[in-house]
Amino acid sequence: MSKSSSYSGFYKLSVEERLQKVGEFADLTQEELNLIADSNHLPIETADHMIENVIGRFSLPLSVGVNFVINGKDVLVPMVTEEASVVAAASNAAKMARSLGGFKTSYTGSIMIAQVQLVGIKDPNGARLAILSQKEKIKEICNEKDPYLVNHGGGFSDLEVRLVETDKGTMVVTHLKVDTLDAMGANAVNTMAEAVAPFLEEITGGQVFLRILSNLAVHRLARAHVEVDKEVLGGEETVDKILLAYAFAKNDPFRAATHNKGIMNGVIPVVLATGNDTRAIESGAHAYAARNGQYTSLTTWEKNEKGNLVGTIELPMAVGLVGGATKIHPIAKVAIKILDITKASELAQIIAAVGLAQNLAAVKTLATEGIQRGHMSLHARNVATVAGATLEQLDEVVKQMREAKLINVEYAKEILSKLNK
Ligand code: MEV
Repeated sequence: MSKSSSYSGFYKLSVEERLQKVGEFADLTQEELNLIADSNHLPIETADHMIENVIGRFSLPLSVGVNFVINGKDVLVPMVTEEASVVAAASNAAKMARSLGGFKTSYTGSIMIAQVQLVGIKDPNGARLAILSQKEKIKEICNEKDPYLVNHGGGFSDLEVRLVETDKGTMVVTHLKVDTLDAMGANAVNTMAEAVAPFLEEITGGQVFLRILSNLAVHRLARAHVEVDKEVLGGEETVDKILLAYAFAKNDPFRAATHNKGIMNGVIPVVLATGNDTRAIESGAHAYAARNGQYTSLTTWEKNEKGNLVGTIELPMAVGLVGGATKIHPIAKVAIKILDITKASELAQIIAAVGLAQNLAAVKTLATEGIQRGHMSLHARNVATVAGATLEQLDEVVKQMREAKLINVEYAKEILSKLNK
C-alpha cells in the first residue's frame, strides 16, 4: 500500500506521537528516532569543526509539513523555522492541492555558473571571441580539476562571455557553466574558475580579478505547478480575489518583496533542515525576481477554463545532497531520509513545491480573512504555553482569551488559576 502524508489532527498529537508517525512513514531506525529526540544531536566537536569561534549550539524547532503530494508521491517535508504558522499554512495549502493531484514539478539540471572577471582589456569584443573560440581548451582545464564529477556525468558544460559596462571600463566576464550533479557545487566551480584564470589572461592580455560562483543560478531552476479546485478554496469568488492579490505583487515591488518573503517562509525551512546554504537560495531567488529590471513575484496565479486556480513558481535552487553541512549535520541526513530522495534534483523540486504551497496559503488568507486571525490563534497558544498551560488546558485558555479579546500572559495566568482551583 502506498504511504499517505495526509493526517487529520497531526498538530493535536504530542511531540512523541508525531515523531512516531514520521518514523513509521519514513521507516526511521530507533537510532534515527533517538537522534531527532535528542536535543544534543549535534556533537560539540562537530559544531566546532563547522564554523569558527564556536561557544555552543543553537536549537530551533524541527517540524514536518504534512499533506504534500508531489509528482504523484506523498511526501512529508522536514522544516526548521522559528516562525509560528508557517508549517500549519504550508500543510493546509498542501491539503487544498491534494484533491486535484497536488504539485507537479520539474528542474532544468544542476548547472552552476562560475564568473571570471577580466579587466584592463582594450578590445573587449575581440577578447570575447578569443575566449569563446577556446571552449575545448577551457573545458579541458576545468574538467581536469574534478575527475570525480566528470566520471559521474557532470563537469564543464558550456561557456558564455559577457561584456559588463562599468565606470571603471568594460569588463569581460566569462561564465563557466558546470554541471555539479548532487553537489551545491560552490567549491567545484570556484576551483575551476581559479584554474582557467591564467589561460584567460594569456589569450586576452587582460588581468583576471574575481573568480567566484554566481548565486543567480539561472541554469539551475526548479519549477512547480498546482491546480486548486475552486470549491476547495470557497468558490470562484475566492479565485478572483487571489488573482487581485497576485496582480498587486506582480506590479508593485513593495508588495512583491513581502509576497516573496512568504515564499521563502516555505523554502528556507527545508533548505535549513537539509543542511543547505539558505543565503545562496535567498540571494538567487531575489535576484531572479528582478531579472527583467523590475522586482516582481516569483509565482504566477491564473484561473483556468474550469474556474480553478492555477499557480506556478520558478526559481534558482542550488541545493545539494553532498558537501557542506548536508553530510555533516546528523539531522540533515535524517531529513533527507524522511524526504525519501537520493538526488539533489528531487530536493530542489520539493522545495519549489513547498514555496508555491506557502504562497498559496498566504495569498488565500490575505485575500479573504486577513492574516491576523490565524496569527492571533497561534499567538494565543504561545501565550497560554508561556503562562504554564498544560496540553489539556491549552484549548480552553485560548478560547477564553479570544472570547475576552485579551491575549496576554497575565490574563492567561488568571484563567489558569481559576482552572486549577
Ligand atoms: C509573513 O511571514 C508572510 C506574509 O506576509 C507573506 C505575504 O504577505 O504574502 C503573510
